[in-house]
Amino acid sequence: MKTQGKKIKIGRNTLCPCGSGKKYKNCCMGDDSMLTVKEAYKRRYGIIVKEPHEIEGIRRSGELLLSIMDKVAAMIAPGITTDQINTLVADETDKAGAIAAPLNYRGFPKSVCVSANEVICHGIPGNRVLRDGDIVNVDITPILDGYYADANKTFFVGTPGPDAIKVVEVALECLRRAIDTVRPGSHLGDIGYAIQSYAESRGCSVVREFVGHGVGIDFHEPPQVCHFGRKHHGVELVPGMVFTIEPMINLGARDLHILEDEWTAVTNDGSLSAQFEQTILVTETGWESLTPY
Ligand code: MF3
Ligand code: CO
Ligand code: CO
Repeated sequence: MKTQGKKIKIGRNTLCPCGSGKKYKNCCMGDDSMLTVKEAYKRRYGIIVKEPHEIEGIRRSGELLLSIMDKVAAMIAPGITTDQINTLVADETDKAGAIAAPLNYRGFPKSVCVSANEVICHGIPGNRVLRDGDIVNVDITPILDGYYADANKTFFVGTPGPDAIKVVEVALECLRRAIDTVRPGSHLGDIGYAIQSYAESRGCSVVREFVGHGVGIDFHEPPQVCHFGRKHHGVELVPGMVFTIEPMINLGARDLHILEDEWTAVTNDGSLSAQFEQTILVTETGWESLTPY
């Protein structure tokens, strides 16, 4: 088996990447003329293993994303509206010659998701005023030269109380621990396990209705990256995979509902929810964030 010209190891008893459903040893093992890993991952999972020039394009989109995120960070203060964040993101994206992926995505009406306090994700910017002590997540996805990078951060507005500090700290640590599991040979389930086990050990809950995703050529590509799961389960990671990890962590129960606007996801118990997201590349030895912060 090859990946970008290099051979990789596949366990004798794992399913053959050619998609036959047979064990590797009973199928393509020893047949060097077979599918590349890239072809096998596309056929079997729909996963687009990225080429170096594509990774470079996503990295550049990620650099733009972070430069916009820094400007958002500087404007967040008690008294601003979520729509002011949208205006900034829309203007900065436009100035860079990029496109804001959220705008008109499946009918989403704005250029960025802004989700405060009990809003888990997909908050629509509008006239909501941010207050001292609030937390607010800003989720930015530019398309630069056709390449998508996707990342979000949760910010404190003014001075946070203990609940805000806790849920933000737990969500960030969940992302950190999840990213740390990423390397060739590990599995998507390792990511979910790292998040779920840490969040629950801190008495928080993990949202299950929304997942991370492959990203880069399109906004949401296979695979789905669950934020809960079991070690050693799910797709095995190979170099060149690019996906988001974006755990949504609630201070209370994980149950949610969607508002009348058909987008805004909120906690049923009204408890705080925090999220952090980065776009992660699987490298030969581990991982690299293409949206590093
Ligand atoms: N950026 C979100 C994600 O992390 C998706 C937002 S879809 C939108 O996947 F339409 F609400 F923008
Ligand atoms: Co995402
Ligand atoms: Co996002």
